[in-house]
Amino acid sequence: MKKVSLTGIKPTAQPHIGNWLGMHRPSLELAADPSVSAYYFVADYHALTTIRDPAELRRLTIDVAAVWLAFGLDPARTLVYRQSDVPEVFELSWILACFSPKGFMNKAHAYKAARDVNVAKGDDEDAGVNMGLYTYPILMAADILIVDADVVPVGQDQVQHVEMARDMAQRFNHTYGAEVLKLPTALVRGESGVVPGVDGRKMSKSYGNTLPCFSTAKQLRKAVMRIETDSTPPEAPKDPESSLVYKIHRALLTKERAEDLAAEYRSGISWGAAKQLLAEDLEALLAEPRAKYDELMRDPSAIEDILDDGARRVRGIAAPVLARVRAAVGVR
Ligand code: ADP
Ligand code: TRP
Repeated sequence: MKKVSLTGIKPTAQPHIGNWLGMHRPSLELAADPSVSAYYFVADYHALTTIRDPAELRRLTIDVAAVWLAFGLDPARTLVYRQSDVPEVFELSWILACFSPKGFMNKAHAYKAARDVNVAKGDDEDAGVNMGLYTYPILMAADILIVDADVVPVGQDQVQHVEMARDMAQRFNHTYGAEVLKLPTALVRGESGVVPGVDGRKMSKSYGNTLPCFSTAKQLRKAVMRIETDSTPPEAPKDPESSLVYKIHRALLTKERAEDLAAEYRSGISWGAAKQLLAEDLEALLAEPRAKYDELMRDPSAIEDILDDGARRVRGIAAPVLARVRAAVGVR
């Protein structure tokens, strides 16, 4: 039996190279493992906790799928679908809600983060918090448990949500004295570590310090030129470990190539030349996916077709799981 790996992506803004190196690349490497069945889905109903513009939600959903396909996800060998196309998820979500102590939800990361922002602003702690956000981990648990996922590759911030899914499954199984739901495990990715942004903080869309993956070559070059440097003269030796340009560049390279680059810094390279090398390497890696992405976005209906096909296939997997759950609780 192959292991099932499930990756869920909330449709948000355009990806940056931190997302690519920390999420897309390791996740696609996992999909290449023949002992793993890799499923990917766009968590559009999770995005509804914040997005209110229907055109934006529709566009971002297609966009997220296009990004994965552009980076090489093969829909024939994996399963790519849209959460909202799988009604079994929402039925399981209600059932799991009945197995989720309310006190647990108070501690969930998504809700706590919103509450902390409110408290910092001096607002009511629940200001702007809807029940979708509050019960976010229940829907996420349903996403995971409905496909019998073994591993869930996530960023550090989502580990708690996966553990909550595991708890719900355990409580459910214990109640009915049977292994009805499979217990999932979180897999924390990001061997390349946290990629810094052009200002030295973590690269993040919230900080506006990103190198975007799919802007034009010219815009990408401009963003590289914005990376902060010090005033060391051009020909002076530079310490790679304390150089932001190097730290970003290193994340793209194999160990050997990163060593070679470090040697060039130590023997003296101007910041202009160092940035030029980074821009060239980025362009070499991103030119092809960018062209593929542009091509995919010219025909969104082809992406819709891939998602529709994925939905049909995943419903075939979800239906028997839901049938097991319904039988266990005593509904028909
Ligand atoms: P952002 O901080 O831009 O909002 P998200 O929180 O949406 O990014 O992260 C999406 C995925 O990309 C997560 O799996 C996260 O671990 C990964 N990721 C985000 N930023 C970085 C970064 N700077 N370096 C490495 N991985 C990152
Ligand atoms: N909560 C995840 C995030 O914000 C997205 C997500 C929704 C997810 N459902 C999931 C991830 C199920 C893994 C499995 O990034």
